[in-house]
Amino acid sequence: MTTQTFRRFEVDRQTDGQIVTRVAEQALTALAPGEVRIRVAWSSLNYKDALAASGSPAVIRQFPAVPGIDAAGEVLESRSPRFSPGDEVLATSYDLGVTRPGGWAEVLDAPADWIVPLPPGLTPREAMLLGTAGLTAGLCVAALLAHEVAPDQGDVLVTGASGGVGSLALRLLAQLGFRVMASSGKKSLHETLLRWGAAEVLTRDGVRDESEKPLLAARWAGVVDCVGGRTLATAIRQTRPGGCIAACGLTGGPELPLTVMPFILRGVTLAGIDSAYCPYERRARIWKLLASDWKLAALDEHVTEARLEDLDSLVAKMLHGQSSGRVIVQPGQK
Ligand SMILES: NC(=O)c1ccc[n+]([C@@H]2O[C@H](COP(=O)([O-])OP(=O)(O)OC[C@H]3O[C@@H](n4cnc5c(N)ncnc54)[C@H](OP(=O)(O)O)[C@@H]3O)[C@@H](O)[C@H]2O)c1
Repeated sequence: MTTQTFRRFEVDRQTDGQIVTRVAEQALTALAPGEVRIRVAWSSLNYKDALAASGSPAVIRQFPAVPGIDAAGEVLESRSPRFSPGDEVLATSYDLGVTRPGGWAEVLDAPADWIVPLPPGLTPREAMLLGTAGLTAGLCVAALLAHEVAPDQGDVLVTGASGGVGSLALRLLAQLGFRVMASSGKKSLHETLLRWGAAEVLTRDGVRDESEKPLLAARWAGVVDCVGGRTLATAIRQTRPGGCIAACGLTGGPELPLTVMPFILRGVTLAGIDSAYCPYERRARIWKLLASDWKLAALDEHVTEARLEDLDSLVAKMLHGQSSGRVIVQPGQK
């Protein structure tokens, strides 16, 4: 980074339609009114970033694009009265890394309304060890608690438990005293999941029922589902009367083959989780919890640190369902 330019990770579409990526120098332009300029100390890699980095039309609307739905760092310049140079802040989701350049850059400009002061108790690096994955996991846990799912009501299930959201949801729930069953397709990580607090580890097939039965034997007081598709449909049909399922992901597919029976015969609640546009107050509240009462011990475990130049291979791994834990990105590191 110089006083005039900064480095960023760009995704572009060539005239023949091929998607290419590069780390490029970008000139600094004037900061827009109401916006804040952040020197990005750390960003992270989420599934949505992996889709963006592969040029997926589901995420990217215009090229060149800069992925990175998460960023944490220090305010360089502010055209909002809410922030001053030197403030430590974090920004997640909204349109970052989608319609606007995101955090895979040394400098990020974002509307002040999208920025949260870094809560006391978290460093910028710790905030990105959590990132959107942590915020989403926190929202899922908050949804279960709001629906009165408590540790004494029985087992809770976390699907896609080795991933970013899943691993953090598992650890949060275990730390809050829940007996957590973790489902994962990665045999090699079963020991890690047990160390993170899983009471038992189930295979992906073990939590996926292919039958058309409207209800299955009730097993779960609550569920955090990162997978969607048949896995989510199975979990809903296996949820106990009055239980709650927080649905946040679709790595196993967007469909939901289901009848209304779990809802009208067992009174289960399907709570949809959207971290991208979750209201500012709720977002700030969850970040505060993640920095205090819910702060995870050994947050640094199972972490990959990446430079912008390392992201192509890490993206490919994530898109093939082979990633685990958290990947954090240090844009200023060459
Ligand atoms: N709603 C929101 O606000 C929000 C926010 C963030 C993320 N998300 C979504 O949540 C999901 C997880 O995100 P993430 O960042 O944690 O991604 P991630 O790190 O890639 O984790 C996803 C996990 O899903 C499992 N998985 C992958 N492919 C699968 C398949 N074909 N069938 C079943 N399971 C599969 C894997 O876990 P195992 O190997 O352990 O099974 C993988 O680690 C994504 O769909 C993402 O788009 C939603």
